Amino acid sequence: MLLKRLTIHLSLAVGLGQVEGSIWPAPAKLQTGDKVLFIDQTLSITYNGEFVRWCSFVNPSTSHRHKDQHDLGQIAKDTLNIQLPYTYGYTPAPGADYNSKEIVQAGVSRTLSAIFHKNLVPWMLHDKHADFEPDLYASNGRVTALHITQTDTDDEESPYTALAGEIDESYSLVLAENGMTRIEAETSVGVLRALESFNQLFYQHSSGNAWYTPLAPVSVEDAPQYPYRGLMMDTSRHFFPVKDILRTIDAMSWSKLNKLHIHATDSQSWPLEIPSLPELSAKGSYARGLVYTPQDLQHIHEYAIHRGVQVILEIDMPGHSGAIALSYPELVVAYNKLPYHWWCVQPPCGGLKLNDSRVDDFLDTLFDDLLPRVGPYTAYFHTGGDELNKNSSRLEENVGTNDTAVLQPLLQKWMDKNLARVRSHGLVPMVWQEMPLEWNITLGDDVVVQAWLGGSTIKDLVSMGHKVIDSDSNFWYLDCGRGAWLNFDNGAAYETFYPFNDWCSPTKSWQLIYSHDPRQGLTEDEAKLVLGGEVPAWSETIDSANLDMVLWPRASALGEVLWSGRIDPATGENRSQFDAAPRLSELRERMVARGVGAAPISQLFCSQSSPEECAFLM
Ligand SMILES: *[C@@H]1O[C@H](CO)[C@@H](O)[C@H](O)[C@H]1NC(C)=O
Ligand SMILES: *[C@@H]1O[C@H](CO)[C@@H](O)[C@H](O)[C@H]1NC(C)=O
Ligand SMILES: *[C@@H]1O[C@H](CO)[C@@H](O)[C@H](O)[C@H]1NC(C)=O
Ligand SMILES: *[C@@H]1O[C@H](CO)[C@@H](O)[C@H](O)[C@H]1NC(C)=O
Ligand SMILES: *[C@@H]1O[C@H](CO)[C@@H](O)[C@H](O)[C@H]1NC(C)=O
Repeated sequence: MLLKRLTIHLSLAVGLGQVEGSIWPAPAKLQTGDKVLFIDQTLSITYNGEFVRWCSFVNPSTSHRHKDQHDLGQIAKDTLNIQLPYTYGYTPAPGADYNSKEIVQAGVSRTLSAIFHKNLVPWMLHDKHADFEPDLYASNGRVTALHITQTDTDDEESPYTALAGEIDESYSLVLAENGMTRIEAETSVGVLRALESFNQLFYQHSSGNAWYTPLAPVSVEDAPQYPYRGLMMDTSRHFFPVKDILRTIDAMSWSKLNKLHIHATDSQSWPLEIPSLPELSAKGSYARGLVYTPQDLQHIHEYAIHRGVQVILEIDMPGHSGAIALSYPELVVAYNKLPYHWWCVQPPCGGLKLNDSRVDDFLDTLFDDLLPRVGPYTAYFHTGGDELNKNSSRLEENVGTNDTAVLQPLLQKWMDKNLARVRSHGLVPMVWQEMPLEWNITLGDDVVVQAWLGGSTIKDLVSMGHKVIDSDSNFWYLDCGRGAWLNFDNGAAYETFYPFNDWCSPTKSWQLIYSHDPRQGLTEDEAKLVLGGEVPAWSETIDSANLDMVLWPRASALGEVLWSGRIDPATGENRSQFDAAPRLSELRERMVARGVGAAPISQLFCSQSSPEECAFLM
């Protein structure tokens, strides 16, 4: 009885909360109603007054009858006749020329194809056998028009090379009770964010060919809390076909994530084709064909930009670079040396030498080849720098010691040269936290530092004046808790390591990811240096077959923390799992419907119930 009363009380509280409706991540401001509007493919669409028509099978010449008369008066006369016959699967032309209209048109295409072809009948979000669907034959209204206005012109280069925060992603969206929809944003990226929110308002009817929102009228004002909202894929420990990367980019855009960090190379393999150093991938990849060609890389970059995502490539060094030894053994120490734990943290070891001019020549060639190819598409380049092993340098003929007093100055010089290479190609360097925090390397204010060890590291880095992104492994590592991948034969190792956890066990559940606030404990000025964060998915036990269920929808939980903020600005309180869980369940269902194998976050009984019925109340 007490529990029941509590439940009623809590439902009321949730009902009065800031977030209603279904949009993930939660918009800064959202108001929804309870009117049903159906939507169909006769919807008329305009972009800055131009007539974009959704007409996969409707004749554009008959489209005029669907125009909204009242609105037409406001459209410039000379653009009235510019119709863009709208097609399913529209994609912008390839190449580095940014065309805002094509980007928006492709966004509209994806949005409408998700609404009409990849939508869900949300039975799993309602009580068993509940009568939740609108009556098809009642005189419900229709969404008649979608008018998109981009209030500023995209800078031709900036969508590709903008630093975190340089592109305005804010938007407003109004879906009026009369079926008129207006989207307004400064940039095309803002329009894409709005279109994704629009998409998440609609469901499929179980009749099969009707689609509706039960939430009209809808009004959204939205903007992100953090400019850097990322996910990291590791293409060295397992190879991921390009289509996996593209699917991941799509899924990222559904959660308004905007940075894909590709940890491209490591000691395990070198899958990146470098035309001027062809043996790197010819010998360093796992098998013939398991490489990313320059064309693949370009395609990934462009595909991402078209979805408002910037790709950041990492070549990890000077540690974690053993795979180079397969083609250039003279540049590397400790490759595959055993027992591995003397020389690195996991097999096979291997790091670039710290005092060898041949390494400089190699890096000049590598960067002169690679960086001009990524430079047109991104602001950043990540040079790694994690887990550099001191012992390894004992094996370098021109060093021969693990003495920090000798190694630190060598590394400083090495890093100075390396950061200069990145800067000389117009890119902003990124490094892992060990460079400044463990090795005391002086970096420069432009460098973005990726923190992963948790504790006081964010505070330490920002108080040194560094810009940081947070990847705290206690909260945000998606690979943790999957169990050991090393073998422990019967005997001492078996006894010691039983029950064979991995190093960062337990699993970071969506609730744990959601609980972490990268700005917690910082002053206002310090907080400004936290650009955002990233969920890494190190791929020891992740490949094509399980990628989606490892990433999703947990990376979406990060999406809400970084887009909407851990703290709800409206209440000053931490966001509630009661509010988040139903929306995250729904997002997961949308992801599955759209072709991404996201994992369920709870049992069906719970997604069909109120969140309080599946809560542990104390
Ligand atoms: C460095 O190597 C020596 C063996 O040469 C080993 O005893 C020592 O534990 C290693 N150091 C680390 C930190 O693993
Ligand atoms: C440095 O090397 C010596 C052996 O030469 C080893 O005993 C010691 O553990 C090493 N220190 C580190 C930090 O690896
Ligand atoms: C680096 O190598 C050069 C030889 O190329 C040597 O003269 C110098 O002492 C080495 N530096 C250190 C710190 O070992
Ligand atoms: C970095 O500086 C700290 C504090 O001064 C010191 O304890 C540490 O040994 C230094 N590390 C290196 C690699 O020089
Ligand atoms: C939010 O939750 C964290 C613990 O996860 C807590 O330390 C913090 O005080 C909470 N913030 C507010 C505003 O309640």
